[in-house]
Amino acid sequence: MTILAIDTSFEDSAAAVVQETTILSNVLSTDFSIYEEFGGVVPRLAREYHHKHIDPTITFAMKKARIIWGQVDAIAVTQGPGLAITLEVGIAKAKELSQKHKKPLVAVNHMEGHLLSFLSTPKKRVKSKLTEYRSGFPAMAILISGGHTQFVYVNDIGVYEIVGETQDDAIGECLDKVGRMLGLGYPAGHLIEKLAKEGRAGVYPFPIPMRQVKNANTSFSGLKTAAMRVIEAAKANKGGRLTKQDIADIAYAFQDACFTHLIEKMQVTLQERKVKSIILGGGVVANTEIRKRMRQVARHHNVPLYLPYSKKLCTDNAAMIGIAGYFKVQRKEFVGDIDTLDRVPTMRLG
Ligand code: KG4
Ligand code: ZN
Repeated sequence: MTILAIDTSFEDSAAAVVQETTILSNVLSTDFSIYEEFGGVVPRLAREYHHKHIDPTITFAMKKARIIWGQVDAIAVTQGPGLAITLEVGIAKAKELSQKHKKPLVAVNHMEGHLLSFLSTPKKRVKSKLTEYRSGFPAMAILISGGHTQFVYVNDIGVYEIVGETQDDAIGECLDKVGRMLGLGYPAGHLIEKLAKEGRAGVYPFPIPMRQVKNANTSFSGLKTAAMRVIEAAKANKGGRLTKQDIADIAYAFQDACFTHLIEKMQVTLQERKVKSIILGGGVVANTEIRKRMRQVARHHNVPLYLPYSKKLCTDNAAMIGIAGYFKVQRKEFVGDIDTLDRVPTMRLG
């Protein structure tokens, strides 16, 4: 079963070829420099970028996978969540290719892609994880990205229940915004991680949100405001300029507060639900510190921790859409009337 997958949910033009859960190619075309002066993604510019790059990205993905159209069994495309005007580009392309090459189409939820990316296997790996994963259900999945912070109870592949989520900003969005306040580039999550390694504990205390609220919802906007105040106060103390050590100390304190909050809420979900494994997905999972803390939680609960085998599979990519698409094909969840397929920018799991 060979699937060509397309994702244009945000700033990356992404295409991939997967065979079941094995990645044959996974191509990403992104240029953050076009957003430099704006400090974040501009939807109109992202759409223009996709228009220019989606065709060569798909062609390159097929070439890298050494696949011709005759060998493709289905096309998978992200339907949502994401930016409406960028999702449209990928969906229009998928429709066009589906009709031209007479291939069935499946519409995928981007967050299901993140959730199932732990199942991806590299070409070289002979044994797929497919045989072992079923013993890991029910599972608790933690999806942490630029747009989402969700705890998802996974009964089985395709059967999801959101048990907690952010009430305001997503964790990645906050890392990016605070990174901007600190004068770092975009996206800033990995830069905050790097700086935090040089930062000292206890220099800047941050309050941990929602400790009194005994549910699994999270909130990050208060931490963002606290960071703004800390940065302003530190600048005022230092004559308007922060030293490298100040920036590192703030990065450490902010990252530490975000992750402490996340882990505390994860503990709440694990008290409420008995699970056989923990799954991590989303761009923030590329962070070594959060992986370390999640590993401790899994050890404490004596369950395995599943996460993507490479950091590139944590952040946005089309291989994860291909894998989620593969399971949809197996369940025969094809798009019936291709003409009516439309983007769903606020699409939810479950
Ligand atoms: O999953 P993703 O690529 O896109 C969305 O679906 O949103 O996640 C992007 C987010 C960004 O906010 C980025 O700053 C964050 O993931 N991120 C990280 C790291 N690498 C990417 N955050 C913390 N540490 C990292 N190493
Ligand atoms: Zn994503």
